[in-house]
Amino acid sequence: MKTLDDLLSAGVKGRRVLLRADLNVPLDGSTITDDGRIRAVLPTVIALREAGARITVVSHLGRPKGAPDPKYTLEPVAVRFAALLGAPVAFAADTVGPAAQSTVDALGDGDVALLENLRFNVGETSKDTDTRQAFAAQLAAFGDVYVDDAFGAVHRKHASVFDVAALLPAYAGKLVVRELDVLSALTGTPTSPYVVVLGGSKVSDKLAVINALLPKVDRLVIGGGMCFTFLKAQGLEVGKSLLEAEMIDTCADLLARGGDKIVLPTDVVAASAFAADADHDVVGVDAIPADRLGLDIGPATVNTFAAALAGAKTVFWNGPMGVFELAPFAAGTLGVAEAITKVDGFTVVGGGDSAAAVRALGLDESAFGHISTGGGASLEYLEGKELPGISALSSEA
Ligand code: 3PG
Ligand code: MG
Repeated sequence: MKTLDDLLSAGVKGRRVLLRADLNVPLDGSTITDDGRIRAVLPTVIALREAGARITVVSHLGRPKGAPDPKYTLEPVAVRFAALLGAPVAFAADTVGPAAQSTVDALGDGDVALLENLRFNVGETSKDTDTRQAFAAQLAAFGDVYVDDAFGAVHRKHASVFDVAALLPAYAGKLVVRELDVLSALTGTPTSPYVVVLGGSKVSDKLAVINALLPKVDRLVIGGGMCFTFLKAQGLEVGKSLLEAEMIDTCADLLARGGDKIVLPTDVVAASAFAADADHDVVGVDAIPADRLGLDIGPATVNTFAAALAGAKTVFWNGPMGVFELAPFAAGTLGVAEAITKVDGFTVVGGGDSAAAVRALGLDESAFGHISTGGGASLEYLEGKELPGISALSSEA
């Protein structure tokens, strides 16, 4: 796999670089609530600018349905991107149309443009290879070389991630290289004790990664909405908590296989409704009222999980411990995140919600070894799945 360093040493002054980034940031209306993914791609953009490249950045945002949808415009991202970069970012109001063409044509050495949302075009995510390749060819016309730094999207077989890499000399950006370095350390022989902390709502989303990691870890700590299916598998009643009934047997099997490795909550915060102003109490996991739902792990569980993390040399955390977006149910995620910052070892936070939680809860990002920008992508890597965006970079002609 060729990397940005190879491109820089070959010289890129005056050349047009098509840079795929993952600028799929969470928005509240048009306000960016977490700009971590924009900041994560800056080192690549800065290096290309300093080398005098003419940089056209492309990204998706959200899941529009192959046609322009103002709800998913990248325009607010262009504004924040320029502010963080400290340089202008020209924004084109289409992806491959006349606005994009004239924006790309106007780039001088070291200039940066951002084109409108890739997913406003059916070709980006199409399952039909010809349709995807036709769109990839339109994108490829904007660059002399292609750099992929969209780690969060490398698990997608999309035109801008997969097909375009076959049409231009292709290089991995700094973020992609760093993410792969970190994740390969977790799948190789991580220094033990190796503790994995999983949360989030669904066991089914995490099943493949649990299967892949269970033999490697010393402890697997499970919180978040998914813990209730495990508690049910232990014969406990979980009231109105999130439950994947079809996964109960699978969880029982994992518990039997995992034995002492698997650490579950002993108390939870049970609420009368999924709302910030709902009545709520801390209850033992054997005393969840029938009419309540667990929305966070409880304080005794935070201590148990912190004890499971103490002394760890390698930690991977993916998924919040509770509904951290609602203040009464944020303490579990905050407590576990703080315990991870105290670990004297290599700590990795998976992307998506857990990375957003670190920033939303005001934790010091530098207290973690690495905060991934890929939620699905990092899980699929750890599952041992092939990532189309990475294969495409490795097999490039
Ligand atoms: C993500 O946020 O997971 C990535 O940006 C990929 O987005 P997607 O799940 O909509 O493909
Ligand atoms: Mg996703």
